[in-house]
Amino acid sequence: MNVLIIGGTGTISRAIVQALLRRGHTVTIFTRGQHADPPPPEVRLLRGDRRDRPAFEATLAAERFDAAIDMISFSAEDAASTMRALAGRVGHLVHCSTVMTYGPPFAGLFQDEHAPLNGQHDGGYGAGKVAADALLLRAHAESGLPVTIVKPSFTFGPGSPLWRQVDWRTDWIDRLRKRKPLLVAGDGLNLFQFLPAADAGEAFAALLGRSETFGEIYNLVHLEPLTWDAWHQTVAAALGVETALVYAPQDLLVAVDAVRYGGLRSNFGHTQVFSGAKLARLLPDWQPATAHATAIAATVDWMDQHGKVANSDDDQLEDRIIAALRELPGRITVGGHGSPG
Ligand SMILES: NC(=O)c1ccc[n+]([C@@H]2O[C@H](COP(=O)([O-])OP(=O)(O)OC[C@H]3O[C@@H](n4cnc5c(N)ncnc54)[C@H](OP(=O)(O)O)[C@@H]3O)[C@@H](O)[C@H]2O)c1
Repeated sequence: MNVLIIGGTGTISRAIVQALLRRGHTVTIFTRGQHADPPPPEVRLLRGDRRDRPAFEATLAAERFDAAIDMISFSAEDAASTMRALAGRVGHLVHCSTVMTYGPPFAGLFQDEHAPLNGQHDGGYGAGKVAADALLLRAHAESGLPVTIVKPSFTFGPGSPLWRQVDWRTDWIDRLRKRKPLLVAGDGLNLFQFLPAADAGEAFAALLGRSETFGEIYNLVHLEPLTWDAWHQTVAAALGVETALVYAPQDLLVAVDAVRYGGLRSNFGHTQVFSGAKLARLLPDWQPATAHATAIAATVDWMDQHGKVANSDDDQLEDRIIAALRELPGRITVGGHGSPG
């Protein structure tokens, strides 16, 4: 197949490119050409910025593809632009959405693709995807657009940093290496589905061209949820270190620094576990095959090679919060016998 990826050098999209090339497909990507890692030489690059909609649509106006995967569509306006850019000249359009369309608040565990679309509270990311998905599905219903919606869970791999639970900083890898304790929100037992990008790439590639997926939504998730505790411990083990986890109430962290820790409320502070059964029925031979430890090690290697591990000595806040939490029990008087401090 002759396949277009809008995006193509990102975390998930580079893995899709690899999976497509392994299958012998011809791959074109559309990016600004800014990513630190260029695409493989056999990939054709169309350079441009999709936010310049007229130029983006003009670039694709002369092109025809058996399939296209839109990896950087975040709003109904983006989705409408992709439809105009490829109108009538694509055999299958796959739209990369997200499980963040479902919440927070999330309606329950192992929800399938019929779960309520509650993802309205995260600065617009979930709501934008909900609107884009709705527009595309309406175009399928009204005019037969051959579109499939794919909703990945948390996906990681070379191409972007490895994330932790409490904030969007990269110095936690350095904290682990320096044997510093790590802050965790709540009891660290909220569950997530951590999906290696290589496995996500295989799934996208495997469903391309499948007409029974037109007008359908598929969750693309790791089938075995992990707690954030287990995630932090698995990363520590991949680095060959042991770590002490220090637990803090989520609201306390947000009260200390609402910007730094605000992602807990909008995303990583919630249990997020979705059903992958529909995709498993479509692709019985697919399931996540990359061990977490392997994918973590590859991602940390990528971070090291690209200077993406910040120096934790440049930040004092985490150590100050941990020191305060450890001191707190001794400051509280119990039945008149504690030290009031
Ligand atoms: N990672 C997750 O946990 C996760 C989970 C669920 C869903 N998703 C979805 O996955 C998608 C992200 O895929 P990814 O991991 O491949 O992306 P990524 O790592 O964010 O990379 C973005 C790609 O798009 C290109 N790009 C960015 N802005 C562009 C623009 N304005 N015009 C043209 N090209 C542009 C980048 O190359 P240049 O910089 O060179 O342009 C790069 O190739 C998003 O739709 C996201 O919602 C991700």
